[in-house]
Amino acid sequence: MNLFSAVIPAAGSGRRMGKGFNKLLLPLGGVTLLECTLRLFAGCPWIKEVFLVVQESDRLEIEAIAAPYGVRLVQGGNTRQDSVSRGLEQVETPFVLVHDGARPLVSPEKILEVAEAARRNEAAILAIPIKDTVTRVSEGLITGTIPREGLWAAQTPQAFRTVLLREAIRKAAQELFEGTDEASLVERLGHRIAVVEGSERNLKVTTPMDLLIAEHIMNQRGAR
Ligand code: CTP
Ligand code: MG
Repeated sequence: MNLFSAVIPAAGSGRRMGKGFNKLLLPLGGVTLLECTLRLFAGCPWIKEVFLVVQESDRLEIEAIAAPYGVRLVQGGNTRQDSVSRGLEQVETPFVLVHDGARPLVSPEKILEVAEAARRNEAAILAIPIKDTVTRVSEGLITGTIPREGLWAAQTPQAFRTVLLREAIRKAAQELFEGTDEASLVERLGHRIAVVEGSERNLKVTTPMDLLIAEHIMNQRGAR
């Protein structure tokens, strides 16, 4: 169909993982975390091109991991938003999927579902209803509890008409707004964004505990 490309930001430093190097280079399921993510997208025949955004210091190592998957490497930026923006510059298809390198467990079905929702709505994301009560804390004290009703946690992939995401990123940069995902930028344009229910399995590997959980999910899948 050649309507979609994917941008995979992988240029972070993994500070919260605490290993002193990019967490995407940690082992998961016998390969690297990054390879788990890459092979999912490389395995979608309907995605025309995959742009993997990397830091210069990881380039050689990541080149070796990415070579078999035919993805293109793009130089990353200082923030996730900047990295996505640089990847987006290379995109030539009318639609684009953005997916965190750090989410190695998304299913091919969900990638397709969010892409189809973006074709209908111009913008769509995966998200799941939150389970915890979220509260605002300042200096060790609660300053406001947010009613859980209607609160969802945004995931990736997030899918957009390419020109819409470009416009959203341009406006955010102009107004010095830094978001933690693309949907928050597109929403600032006043555009509607469809939500496709994601899965708890599609966790973002952020801390050592997340890595343990991801490993467990991988092993379960292998056993099935
Ligand atoms: N990312 C990126 N460029 C940056 C920062 C992050 O491409 N300047 C990528 C990460 O590699 C990751 C995704 O964006 O795949 C989501 O970011 P996050 O989970 O926060 O990863 P890190 O920034 O590496 O982790 P931390 O915030 O703990 O340092
Ligand atoms: Mg980060």
